[in-house]
Amino acid sequence: MKLDRLIAKHRQMGRTAALRAIAARRVRVDGLAVADGHAEVDRFSTVMLDEEPVQVAERGLYLVMNKPVGWLSATKDARHATVLDLIDDPDKQTLHLAGRLDRSTSGLLILTNDGNWSKRLMAADFKVPKVYRVETDVPVPADAVEAFERGFYFHTEDITTLPAKLELLGERLARVTLHEGRYHQVKRMFHRVGCRVTALHRESVGELCLPDDLKPGEWRPMTEEEIQLAEQSPRGF
Ligand code: URA
Repeated sequence: MKLDRLIAKHRQMGRTAALRAIAARRVRVDGLAVADGHAEVDRFSTVMLDEEPVQVAERGLYLVMNKPVGWLSATKDARHATVLDLIDDPDKQTLHLAGRLDRSTSGLLILTNDGNWSKRLMAADFKVPKVYRVETDVPVPADAVEAFERGFYFHTEDITTLPAKLELLGERLARVTLHEGRYHQVKRMFHRVGCRVTALHRESVGELCLPDDLKPGEWRPMTEEEIQLAEQSPRGF
């Protein structure tokens, strides 16, 4: 929301009066005087007018988790344990997931209460690469690399998947990089080349890699640097 609007709303004054108060440097955002009435502020900033609080900052939560196999990527479910059950933060009810993983998938999962940030992370025109390690029941055929690059037509959605990078790491072990997140996408792509996925693990989102020190089921707040990294594409993508 624009700063003048926020002040007008919370102080029952007109926007012109709010703009005047801002121009007169009577307003501080997170401790700093702001003279631009059209500056954007969200609910994670503290706004003061004449040293009186207009809005007190909410706590922004940005969590990284090593999702274990068997837990549902949801905030509540009647039947299954959800990843939220693994978190003991007092504000955990404000969290949502920035991208889901199947119940049988493990690895990097991001939870936040900042809808603007997660929207950017998942926006259709800003597709950060997501990297998965994949184990299969039978050897991955060599021509799968080209097939993943070409894309697969998915009848249900009437789309062709974007070029994906497939690296064969062993007979039944591969790494795949996707720039989108369709329903069961990795499993469906492997199915097309005759393989069933027996284990799937997300290693990274954008430039953010699953931290080595997080064991399955563990989570921690992201550092400022990690929050930035998740939005960035590695060089070459
Ligand atoms: N693709 C899948 O098939 N499952 C996931 O959990 C993520 C990507």
